[in-house]
Amino acid sequence: MELTKKISPSFMCADFMELQKCLRELEESKAEYLHIDVMDGSFVPNYTLGTDFCKVLKKNTHIPLDIHLMIDSPEYKLSWFPIGEGDYVSVHYESTPHIHRALQQIKSLGAKPMVALNPATPLSTLEYLLDDIDAVLLMTVNPGFAGQKLVEATLKKISDLRQFLDSRDRGHIEIEVDGNVSFENARKMSDRGANIFVAGSSSIFSPSFSLTEGIKRLRRAIE
Ligand code: DX5
Ligand code: ZN
Repeated sequence: MELTKKISPSFMCADFMELQKCLRELEESKAEYLHIDVMDGSFVPNYTLGTDFCKVLKKNTHIPLDIHLMIDSPEYKLSWFPIGEGDYVSVHYESTPHIHRALQQIKSLGAKPMVALNPATPLSTLEYLLDDIDAVLLMTVNPGFAGQKLVEATLKKISDLRQFLDSRDRGHIEIEVDGNVSFENARKMSDRGANIFVAGSSSIFSPSFSLTEGIKRLRRAIE
């Protein structure tokens, strides 16, 4: 099954003084999702965007949100977010002993559940979750910060995951990659079976060219 290639620009990499302009440019460039990194200073050592930021975006655009929860026990906090139909919400396997419950709750809110795995977390953790997810988010850097270098072993992990899913008759489950998705890495990731690309400081958010140009370049790299 050939899955559509999609781009999910990462708002933690946006120029906060120019958010409105940024949003309009991403709409015109037909970005498929808006990636919002939520951190709690405990699951990962940083704070970034939060509930109010998600609410403002939700109110001001029709692009579906792609909310990446890097927080402990997300199952107790999902109702804080403006989650709706068409949105993706990802929860980390490592962040809760109740991953199944968290994924079910995302579904009950009408959104699409996605499970996120840190670079060292094995694919076998997915075995009994395959009926409960629409996508897997593979972290290709350690979560917490923009501007990091690719963990090379995760390239093989993408091919392994595609094979893992296809061999279990789950060709429809999407693979999102997050972290150092540069134009060069994006091509390698796409070749290995990733189809949703988190676009951050390594690609479209650059002082040297516009967002419109960045999205064009990234599309060329993944097609
Ligand atoms: C971490 C974040 C980052 C970021 C991606 O959890 O999701 O990976 O937005 O941007 P760069 O391209 O800086 O890695
Ligand atoms: Zn992310």
